[in-house]
Amino acid sequence: MSTTEVLALVPRPQSLVRGQGQFTLTQQTQIFASPDAAPVAEYLAALLRRSSGFPLPVSVQDTVPDAQNTLLLVADAPGLGDEGYELVVNTQQVVLRAAAAAGLFYGVQTIRQLLPLTIEESGLQQDVIWAIPAVTIKDHPRFSWRGLHLDVGRHWFPVAFVKKFIDWMALHKFNVFHWHLTEDQGWRIEIKRYPRLTEVGSRRAATPIPANREQNDGKPYGGHYTQDEIREVVAYAKARYITVLPEIEMPGHALAALAAYPELGCAGEGYQVWTRWGIAKDVFCAGNEDTYTFLENVLAEVLDLFPSEFIHIGGDECPKGRWESCPKCQAMIQRESLKDEHELQSYVISRIEKFLNAHNRRLIGWDEILEGGLAPNATVMSWRGTEGGIAAASAGHDVVMSPESHCYFDHYQAKDRENEPPAIGGFLPLEKVYAFDPTTGVPEDKTCHVLGGQGNTWTEYIPTEAQVEYMVYPRAAALAEALWLSPDGRDFADFMRRLPGHLQRLDRLGIRYRKSR
Ligand code: ACM
Ligand code: ZN
Repeated sequence: MSTTEVLALVPRPQSLVRGQGQFTLTQQTQIFASPDAAPVAEYLAALLRRSSGFPLPVSVQDTVPDAQNTLLLVADAPGLGDEGYELVVNTQQVVLRAAAAAGLFYGVQTIRQLLPLTIEESGLQQDVIWAIPAVTIKDHPRFSWRGLHLDVGRHWFPVAFVKKFIDWMALHKFNVFHWHLTEDQGWRIEIKRYPRLTEVGSRRAATPIPANREQNDGKPYGGHYTQDEIREVVAYAKARYITVLPEIEMPGHALAALAAYPELGCAGEGYQVWTRWGIAKDVFCAGNEDTYTFLENVLAEVLDLFPSEFIHIGGDECPKGRWESCPKCQAMIQRESLKDEHELQSYVISRIEKFLNAHNRRLIGWDEILEGGLAPNATVMSWRGTEGGIAAASAGHDVVMSPESHCYFDHYQAKDRENEPPAIGGFLPLEKVYAFDPTTGVPEDKTCHVLGGQGNTWTEYIPTEAQVEYMVYPRAAALAEALWLSPDGRDFADFMRRLPGHLQRLDRLGIRYRKSR
């Protein structure tokens, strides 16, 4: 392999020096791992065996031998940080070191991207030279929160697809999968205590058609995940060092829940799982104690399913009209000496935060949770630009930046809409995603509160798996690099030189990404 050949690594490592020659896997290659490295070594062995057919035995030992024709994975380098790794490949060995298993996992993804594309094929591949070019790589991410979000409320996607989505995240070293599980148009998570949430709330009578959202297709639509399926997805993600962040929307985006339990709305009756897109006027009644009991019972089951430190409670787009005319909501405003309906929303979020904190979890919500006063320990996910995130970080709160301007993968990828499938609007080209910097505008001494960034996949206009793939890739590849490297370390022209090779890998994986024209 020539040392001038472009290595299609995405995200690009912080530092990479090419060496001479290459390491070539053979029938005799062995893998040695320190005890902490064992699960990642098994993941690597499975990946390599699948298409090479080599036995690649894994030996787990306290002292890893310095032998030839070996891959060594060692968790013995505390200086590399929680997610950093060092990879040295020469003609005799591949040595991967990290402080912790997550770093080793990212090193393995780099090894994967250094291998021939045939590594992505699931069947046995003949006549391949399984070569890894000689390199010395030192690498770590800039941000600890590197997220992708998937809205399964507007359109539902089966577990098999959710796993693929997670696999592709792993290839790009993302580490948070934000699963948007409840919406006006569908409640997607089984809650044992409230079976009607899925019996009633997971089905709608019709769906707006992409070409004209004022028209419905007239076809019943539904889907949900059982708790066993949720556990399966959480475990699958965990094995890929990805945290699943569940989102349970409150107090707005709640029509599907109200259709199932109408007593939790201000009117108490007459709700249906929504068959339109937009912002529904009907929301949870914030003046009814039963609402809080319900939300806490739902969250108790959510906490049991998701080990994530953070729980996303939505909080966005909650119109206040129903609360203005609801005697219970007005009585709550009186009882709690609140100024207005915005403070009532803040009261809801703060009450839920107390519940989550009492269970050793942290609340995260969309930036509307700033209105009426931010709950004391809340983390903000800033989507209406970064202003909300900047305000929250300035006040000492942690934030995740996912502004519509740079992170909304439901927006168009080309100016020429005629030749694109219908999308919700906007224009977000690859180059703009690549230029995203979550700390822009955040005071220097507050940037420590910026945990990272996230790409969001809202699915009103994304009814199929193929369409998710088209909207998310290759933009997610650009985002992965934007969250891995600081702006000084990034170069869009260099990314574009690596992209063709990377896209060939996505082809092998069967990802139906958008091809530029
Ligand atoms: C949002 O896009 N409504 C968070
Ligand atoms: Zn009410």
